[in-house]
Amino acid sequence: MLEFFAGIGLVHEALRQSGWQCIYANDLDPYKRALYEANFGSDPSESLDYWHLEDVWNTASVVGRVLANADSDQVAAPLLATASFPCTDMSLAGNMKGFSGRESSAFFGFAEVLEQLGERKPPLVLLENVVGLLTARGGRDFVAAVDRLAELGYWLDCWRLDAKHFVPQSRPRLFIAGFLHPEHYLPEGARPALPAATSALRPARLLEAVQACSPSTGWILAPLPDPPAPKTCLSDWIDRDDRQDWWPAEQVARHMEMLSDSHRQQVEQRQDSREPWVATAFRRIREGQQRLEVRFDGIAGCLRTPKGGSARQIVLAGGSQGQRMQGQHMQGLRMRWMSPREYARLQGASDYNWGEAADSRVLFGFGDAVCVPAIAWIDRHVLTPYIQRLADSRLSV
Ligand SMILES: C[S@@+](CC[C@H](N)C(=O)[O-])C[C@H]1O[C@@H](n2cnc3c(N)ncnc32)[C@H](O)[C@@H]1O
Repeated sequence: MLEFFAGIGLVHEALRQSGWQCIYANDLDPYKRALYEANFGSDPSESLDYWHLEDVWNTASVVGRVLANADSDQVAAPLLATASFPCTDMSLAGNMKGFSGRESSAFFGFAEVLEQLGERKPPLVLLENVVGLLTARGGRDFVAAVDRLAELGYWLDCWRLDAKHFVPQSRPRLFIAGFLHPEHYLPEGARPALPAATSALRPARLLEAVQACSPSTGWILAPLPDPPAPKTCLSDWIDRDDRQDWWPAEQVARHMEMLSDSHRQQVEQRQDSREPWVATAFRRIREGQQRLEVRFDGIAGCLRTPKGGSARQIVLAGGSQGQRMQGQHMQGLRMRWMSPREYARLQGASDYNWGEAADSRVLFGFGDAVCVPAIAWIDRHVLTPYIQRLADSRLSV
């Protein structure tokens, strides 16, 4: 596999579980490389020769290294290229500049690399981005991405998958997969057709976007299983012990002031019940006022890159600590920033080794990353079965 926009390597982390070997990884961020190296380089069987610190737009350099790595590993053609390209311009925070923005348009650098790989381009590609890609610039960016892959010969599938089905973190993401040999993807006898009904993986908005484009190859939306039920067990994933960096009482009180009436009532109800409870929150500016917005559904909010205090997630824990006296039922409520280890856990990478990296770098790396078990699920149901059938067909020729 080739891992483009590799970041801290969580796509690789997911795929190596089923035996994929990464022969090329690319990113332009040296801090992400340091994290990747601490994690993957600590395995004595791994040499990080395959990691290329380079702007994907320097296509000659990228293609040269991909081919050199493939040759030295005696790989005729890599089987898979993954690209979780920057989502910065696909979200409100990035002003929805979409592909006219400098960062998200790096997708086209990736596509150019595939084109230049010619006969040696992989028979399978997997794109990952935020769901905003469906609607960026009135849907034109989704059409542009799909058309570009089709131009390269890929038939397409597309679905939305939320990390909450695997870990207690809400992280809906859009996936687009491209197949050079569609006959090995669809189940035997199935014909390429758009599904008539919506499903958990393909909600109405996604099907509308799919219907709005007609790639020169075609859509092959395979019947995928429903993902498992959401994991609402956040309290099992958050550390409650005294060694955590719990805030002093004044800081907790200041944040309590930021709660809306309804959120304050819900916190009080939980404190009254005296059962241990955990929730997460973000600080947000609403109508000029700083607010603390809490999620009470047992699922953490989407981890994000902490640019400024508002994007870093806050943990609230209560119910069991501290002596509560009558009239002081909020005593015992604790708050703190979510820790780097909890970020790693909520991305399904509890044992990730980041060496000596600064906390801010670790939070940034995980905030930008994919959720490991979500990618492993896609591997199990999409990537490996297709590659297996492709390999079987080649063997039988
Ligand atoms: C959404 S993150 C991908 C995270 C990755 N999948 C992971 O699990 O850590 C996008 C990555 O693209 C990288 N990037 C942005 N522009 C790039 C470019 N022009 N060339 C190469 N990498 C780029 C960023 O440094 C960032 O790590």
